[in-house]
Amino acid sequence: MRIAAVFYSKTGITRKVTLDIVDGLKKEGIMVDVFELKPLRDYSRPLHLNPRLIYETLIKKTTEITVIPHEPELKDYKLIILASPIWCGTIAPPIREFIKKYKYSGKKAVCITTSMLPLNYSKKLKRVAEREGKYKVIHYVNVVGRKPYKKVIDSIVRKIIEGLAKE
Ligand SMILES: Cc1cc2nc3c(=O)[nH]c(=O)nc-3n(C[C@H](O)[C@H](O)[C@H](O)COP(=O)(O)O)c2cc1C
Repeated sequence: MRIAAVFYSKTGITRKVTLDIVDGLKKEGIMVDVFELKPLRDYSRPLHLNPRLIYETLIKKTTEITVIPHEPELKDYKLIILASPIWCGTIAPPIREFIKKYKYSGKKAVCITTSMLPLNYSKKLKRVAEREGKYKVIHYVNVVGRKPYKKVIDSIVRKIIEGLAKE
């Protein structure tokens, strides 16, 4: 049984959260393949004043991406972790592009967002994953701050393990 962890991260926080979850799962004997999304045209700084970032986040809602190390075969995985930072109150364009491109009806998914404010942002990723990707979201959580607490990561790992056990 394998899991895919798909993330986009610009400043490293979502990467750390994703990799901490992956470590926790691996310690429980679960095999996880990690896929990182990169925009073909990266966003330059200052990010908050980048007109293309704002346009692609709020209006176009997508951007062309490449998947590292390679395009995933979603049928190989029992569950997909989707992780994204929050930009301008919504999910970043690369994860939305991934979900649109890799629809998978009924595939179990866990949605993780990271943000500065402690708001219920992960609901947005859940909604997009369900509506646009047809995923079956079994858990969603927003993680705040540069130093994610071990407790939060542990509880996500537990939820994933419980979700894998259920049919
Ligand atoms: C352009 C931009 C817009 C952001 N908008 C929000 C926001 O609306 N709400 C919020 O809580 N955090 C916002 N943030 C903070 C990020 O969501 C947060 O720092 C996130 O954890 C960064 O993830 P990353 O390091 O994986 O890129 C924004 C950051 C950037 C760069």
